[in-house]
Amino acid sequence: NFNDLIVIVFFCVCSKLDWWTSDECNMINGTNGGSFHPVITKNETLYMFSSDLCRSLYALYEEDVTVKGIPGYRFSPPSEVFANQTVNPANAGFCVPAGNCLGSGVLNVSPCKQGAPIVMSTPHFYQADEKYVQDVFGMRPKKEQHQTAIDINPVIISTLIILSRQ
Ligand SMILES: *[C@@H]1O[C@H](CO)[C@@H](O)[C@H](O)[C@H]1NC(C)=O
Ligand SMILES: *[C@@H]1O[C@H](CO)[C@@H](O)[C@H](O)[C@H]1NC(C)=O
Ligand SMILES: *[C@@H]1O[C@H](CO)[C@@H](O)[C@H](O)[C@H]1NC(C)=O
Repeated sequence: NFNDLIVIVFFCVCSKLDWWTSDECNMINGTNGGSFHPVITKNETLYMFSSDLCRSLYALYEEDVTVKGIPGYRFSPPSEVFANQTVNPANAGFCVPAGNCLGSGVLNVSPCKQGAPIVMSTPHFYQADEKYVQDVFGMRPKKEQHQTAIDINPVIISTLIILSRQ
């Protein structure tokens, strides 16, 4: 099935993660975000697994773009992906240890970094809980600069499809 091109099935000799507290959050979905199957349509949900973030996420079509003269579709993760568990109950599985929930836009990756106290955030706490933006000096989240986006030429296959990545 060409739609499964580049899809990650195994990561570290396991087909699911065990860092998070729900089966859904422990799923390894899609590709590594560097490439996708050919012939992408605007209505697709692009699943990807980020080894930096230690989790799967997805991106949705946002707009048509032209990068260096090459037409493409811009896909980006909607705010629900990194939202708190009130807004997106499925994200309760990313509260670790179980029940210790942080706000929107931040992720405690300690379980997948040998227990090191590391919390990942979106750049400048873009789409994160306003309290983080207030609490850290100099944060000025702006969509144009801090949104995570993947621009994909919908037809060209393999590694050439990524035109730019912020
Ligand atoms: C993984 O994909 C399934 C759909 O196949 C989805 O229900 C689940 O929420 C995804 N997990 C993550 C962490 O994105
Ligand atoms: C997505 O769009 C393609 C072509 O634009 C269409 O063939 C397909 O049926 C659509 N799929 C869904 C789930 O809407
Ligand atoms: C989750 O986010 C929403 C929207 O930003 C906010 O209103 C709500 O208070 C947050 N919930 C928690 C538990 O932080």
